[in-house]
Amino acid sequence: MLSEIAREAILGLTGEDYDEDQQEAWAESAGDEAALARRLADHLTLVATREGEPVGFIALADNRLIDMLFVHPEAAGQGVGALLYDAVEKLAGARGAKVLAVDASDTALGFFQKRGFVPKSRNTVPRGGVWLGNTTMEKTLGEPPTTH
Ligand SMILES: CC(C)(COP(=O)(O)OP(=O)(O)OC[C@H]1O[C@@H](n2cnc3c(N)ncnc32)[C@H](O)[C@@H]1OP(=O)(O)O)[C@@H](O)C(=O)NCCC(=O)NCCS
Repeated sequence: MLSEIAREAILGLTGEDYDEDQQEAWAESAGDEAALARRLADHLTLVATREGEPVGFIALADNRLIDMLFVHPEAAGQGVGALLYDAVEKLAGARGAKVLAVDASDTALGFFQKRGFVPKSRNTVPRGGVWLGNTTMEKTLGEPPTTH
């Protein structure tokens, strides 16, 4: 279910930034349901639904790292990603996070920049025999609101 969203998002939305071999290798690694379940086991995962159907998800590791964010192409560009990110930022902040980090895909770089993330380093990571570029970005969170 979530692996299907990841797969469709990679194949449907990242074509301007990655070539077909890179898309296939990335989709294969993210689209394995069992592997994804193991990866998400210790993550905080939020799923956005529309008419009862999942259309996107975000996964936070260690209350710090946005490990995955995917929106199905049919629901993309309609604020689903923004909604998921806002919710995770609030939850992480409430749980004491001071900084959030993400290894942003080239497709998502502008999305995270718009949300206050600053590029820290450029990476090239292996996925199933091909190399993909991404950018480590960080955002310092504001002080949590006082309760008195
Ligand atoms: C990146 C992604 C999650 C964004 O989800 P989305 O639901 O389409 O994004 P939204 O509709 O919520 O966009 C919110 C805002 O970000 C902007 N935005 C979205 N993608 C953007 C991009 N690539 N560059 C710049 N701005 C972007 C939108 O214009 C919108 O602006 P607004 O707040 O002024 O209206 C989605 O495109 C996706 O799944 N991409 C493929 C997989 C991927 O790269 N995931 C990230 C891995 S780190």
